[in-house]
Amino acid sequence: MSHIFPPSLIETLQSARRVVVLTGAGISAESGIPTFREAQTGLWAKYDPMTLATPQAFRQNPRLVWEWYAWRRKLVSQARPNPGHYALVEMANHLPHFTLITQNVDNLHQIAGSSYVLELHGNIARSKCFAENVVISSWPETDELPPRCPHCGGLLRPDVVWFGESLPSEPLDGAFAAASTADLFFTIGTSGLVQPAASLPLLARQVGAILIEINPQTTPLTDQMDYHLSGPAGEILPQLVAAAWPPKG
Ligand code: OAD
Repeated sequence: MSHIFPPSLIETLQSARRVVVLTGAGISAESGIPTFREAQTGLWAKYDPMTLATPQAFRQNPRLVWEWYAWRRKLVSQARPNPGHYALVEMANHLPHFTLITQNVDNLHQIAGSSYVLELHGNIARSKCFAENVVISSWPETDELPPRCPHCGGLLRPDVVWFGESLPSEPLDGAFAAASTADLFFTIGTSGLVQPAASLPLLARQVGAILIEINPQTTPLTDQMDYHLSGPAGEILPQLVAAAWPPKG
């Protein structure tokens, strides 16, 4: 479907100096990765996240939690970036300052070529020691699941943020710093329900940034937006980039 963009939006994008993008699971939906909250197709339609994505769940049943993430890691490893991911790589090339913040743990922005990604919720491709909280890149393979930390013998866990856990401070500080100096802030493919990510566009608005949301649905953030582009990110983003920076030749 072809989208028509208001000329003011195109001019804003062309003249923007400090663009910040926050993405959620929706930008990976067209890569075949389930989002979280969509009723029928969402990951959580089948599983109760509170019984899987918490430190308590891991302590109670480490093997179940490890295997659930192993299943998600396999799903993600078979996924490829979609045109939405690639359009963000191209957008960054046209702008003086571009910061990409993601709530996703699927590594697809990096695979698409985004060089600097602030991962607020970690990355499912990495594992870390539950006891020492340090990333572990290799360990002796045994039949035991979860595997054990080669340093201390503690259990390994996915390097993703669970409910009730604090976010990694470096990406979080970077995200707040970027939002507080943005002149244009995109919110793409997120339900806007999880803090602190959902407060980033509002912080940008406080410093005068123009807010753009890309989502087939409206969200609790929609009322704050200057523009809500309704549709799939994999369709809208490439057309928006082409409208702002028409391909040469
Ligand atoms: P959700 O599943 O809550 O929301 C996905 C959003 O993407 C919804 O608003 C959909 O309407 C939208 N969407 C679906 N398909 C889309 C498409 N093709 N293009 C654009 N948007 C589309 O996922 P998140 O908002 O990312 O945290 O969830 C935020 C956090 O909640 C996740 O990072 C996860 C969960 O707790 C952790 O795991 C720590």
